[in-house]
Amino acid sequence: MTKKLLAGNWKMHGDLASVRKYLSVLRQNQALLNDSLAELCIMPPYAYLGAMQELSHLRVHIGAQNLAAYEKGAYTGEVSASMLKDMHCQYVLVGHSERRQYFHEQGDVLKRKYQLCLDHDMIPVLCIGETLEQREQGQTFDVLRRQLLEVLDGTSAEALRIAYEPVWAIGTGVSAKKSDVEEAHGFIKQTVWEKINPNVSVKVLYGGSVTEHNAAELLNALNVDGGLVGGASLDAARFLEIAKCINSFY
Ligand code: PGA
Repeated sequence: MTKKLLAGNWKMHGDLASVRKYLSVLRQNQALLNDSLAELCIMPPYAYLGAMQELSHLRVHIGAQNLAAYEKGAYTGEVSASMLKDMHCQYVLVGHSERRQYFHEQGDVLKRKYQLCLDHDMIPVLCIGETLEQREQGQTFDVLRRQLLEVLDGTSAEALRIAYEPVWAIGTGVSAKKSDVEEAHGFIKQTVWEKINPNVSVKVLYGGSVTEHNAAELLNALNVDGGLVGGASLDAARFLEIAKCINSFY
């Protein structure tokens, strides 16, 4: 079994007090972190990347939720790939559905962001997923294929990290069914190998209402190489429970 990746996406949550508390809970559980059979990563808001630098000493990667589509320049309010690299980010989300929905990110912009991560030696995690309407209209696979190809076509990346996050399962408390997850993940891998690069290694994470209660089922499913967890990652104890659950798969 390949090493799973468990990433916690805090979105725009938390404050300095909660960051400190989170780190102290992780510190108290250093043995569990040392024994983790999954790679762990926390993606706090940009503002707390500095305050969370200790993560790397705790054997947890630091990640970012987004990055600018430009190398540098007069782009007020943006954060560049090189800045994230300075903050020791290993992973960066590209194309999270909330970026697509509220900030209208797609196509070329996402392709540029993806490439900038690679240029700066960070690992982009491309997030894709269909809306409920698209699923009900039988468009799921078309949407996934389009979202994959518009960013990954021609990529030089040797290892791909993709998060399948059905939009209707994000933050709703209703996760996708195991069979739907397995089907989507199988489709994603097959599409990558057929249309992008037959030799590339690919990990597909599932995201969408993953909790410590459903992780055993969802994250051990066929073709599931990890999880992208939002709400349940905000509480260090819950995040650790999910990490523990992954240990039990091996
Ligand atoms: P959720 O969010 O776990 O709160 O559903 C997942 C995500 O958006 O990455």
